[in-house]
Amino acid sequence: MDWFFRDFDHPAYFTIYADKAADAGLEGPALTALLDLPRGSRVLDLPCGWGRLNPYLCAQGLEIFGGDLSPLNLMRHQADHPVPLVRLDFRALPFRPSCADGVFCAFTSWGYFATEEDNLRQITEFARVLRPGGALLLDLAGRSFLQSALAGVEGDWLEFPEDGYLEKARWSPDGRRILTERLCQGEAFCHDIWIPTDSEVRACLHLAGLPVSQAYGGLDGRPWTQQAERWIYRAIKD
Ligand SMILES: C[S@@+](CC[C@H](N)C(=O)[O-])C[C@H]1O[C@@H](n2cnc3c(N)ncnc32)[C@H](O)[C@@H]1O
Repeated sequence: MDWFFRDFDHPAYFTIYADKAADAGLEGPALTALLDLPRGSRVLDLPCGWGRLNPYLCAQGLEIFGGDLSPLNLMRHQADHPVPLVRLDFRALPFRPSCADGVFCAFTSWGYFATEEDNLRQITEFARVLRPGGALLLDLAGRSFLQSALAGVEGDWLEFPEDGYLEKARWSPDGRRILTERLCQGEAFCHDIWIPTDSEVRACLHLAGLPVSQAYGGLDGRPWTQQAERWIYRAIKD
């Protein structure tokens, strides 16, 4: 079974990412502003996770439909923020072509698949469901920032006792992916995520018919830089 079926669909995920609930107050309004769609626009939140960003999208008058692979996340979302939700896999979205004005893909939710074909498939599925002129917001971790952050601690177990877990991260031998092992609640998890270069992100978006209209290097909309912690792309369907 691919790692992402289990890692996100386990109660430990809510412990490991507990700080992201607090981050939502900053990220939600900022990312919604960068998506930059008028009130009433129909937006697919893919993946929606447990809905931490949902109130901020809704507050801008957007009509939100959420989708995610994890039943556990969807249950929490439904309890806390009831909007139309569907269980789905990025590679085959259960939506009609051109049905959406926007796709909102926050918090490094691309690159999970083992093959380039499947990772491109996720983007071509985003393109398929967007209407011409519709916008994708793709919020990724900056590759160079991650290289700097991992230098010196790569392969070391780091303790986060207050957060209740241990973590060890390393680059794959080909330098394309980061493997992050975690021990939490007596169980072991391992994220295995492709960390693309800027050229690779743009090439995939271009291939899918979603050329980049803006690239940002932070939540405040500052311009993209190689070293930025976040690479946030706004792409428009041809
Ligand atoms: C890092 S979380 C981000 C969630 C949300 N965007 C946020 O900012 O809180 C990644 C999410 O992707 C979902 N996911 C992982 N693999 C998926 C797949 N193949 N198809 C759809 N969703 C997937 C996980 O269940 C998880 O909720």
